[in-house]
Amino acid sequence: MKRKLILDVDTGIDDAIGIILAVKSRQFDILGITTVNGNVSLESATRNTCKVLDLLDEQNISVIKGANSPLLRNSFFEHAVHGEDGLGGALQHASIRKQPDEGFAPDFIINSILNFSGEVTLVMTGPLTNLALALKKCPEIVKHVKEVIFMGGVVQGAGNVTPTAEYNLYVDPESARIVLQAGFASITQVGLDVTRKALLRDEHIALIEDRNLREFIDKSTCDYRKRYFERNQVSGCAMHDPLAVGVALEKKLVQTGQYYCDVETRSELCDGQLVCDIQNRLPAHPNVSVCTDVNTEAFFDLFISIMNS
Ligand code: RIB
Ligand code: CA
Repeated sequence: MKRKLILDVDTGIDDAIGIILAVKSRQFDILGITTVNGNVSLESATRNTCKVLDLLDEQNISVIKGANSPLLRNSFFEHAVHGEDGLGGALQHASIRKQPDEGFAPDFIINSILNFSGEVTLVMTGPLTNLALALKKCPEIVKHVKEVIFMGGVVQGAGNVTPTAEYNLYVDPESARIVLQAGFASITQVGLDVTRKALLRDEHIALIEDRNLREFIDKSTCDYRKRYFERNQVSGCAMHDPLAVGVALEKKLVQTGQYYCDVETRSELCDGQLVCDIQNRLPAHPNVSVCTDVNTEAFFDLFISIMNS
């Protein structure tokens, strides 16, 4: 039996590659892809998600739109990283066949989880607004979810928006807090500590045999890799969201530790920071499985083998 999956995305460049990895892995019964305001607007994230499914010639996967803003805060788009269109200019002239389905993502999440109790894996690769709204409307879904894997936060390193905050948690820290405090039995945090090690290099792209996929990944990550080269003298693109999908595919790719985690929401300097109690100083039980290291070589072996499957 394929594992039932809901992928929640704010399709930007790395979300798009995560979608490709999840679909081409053929390991999941993808119940739906839910979209959220994040890197780009909800409309753009939804359009980009549909474009990626067209690229894969996958018309049967549902796309359901969700929140068009963070829970309490203003949108914080990341066009400097993902480009005006959100895909680095790739697929800009592609005609769109796939259309989003009716419905609202939080309701789709609730209904799917309750219909398939104990079977649904949630992989969250954008701000956690849709899951927070689902939890507010139907708190009992916590008991019926198989597992939650989310790309977000950073524990030992620096943030990528502020010195302490990673983008997905920075954009909607209130939603992240709701999710972390909901009481999920299995929730795994895939943060910058590990995703920054999963650097897509030119040589990885050259190994992708399908011309359309190779050209999409090359084009969409081109500016991202160029900027990375300017800063680090090596061409690379951090596979933040694809690694979250990778963890859903193969937990052995990462080392994890169980820690108490929460999110700062009332700080002038540290809003959106994932506060991880790695020294167990707080009177609180561990609630998150935190990814502390990654087998980068094994991840890219899996990545390339799926891309060429
Ligand atoms: O910090 C990286 C995360 O923020 C990724 O999910 C990227 O797509 C952006 O949403
Ligand atoms: Ca994302």
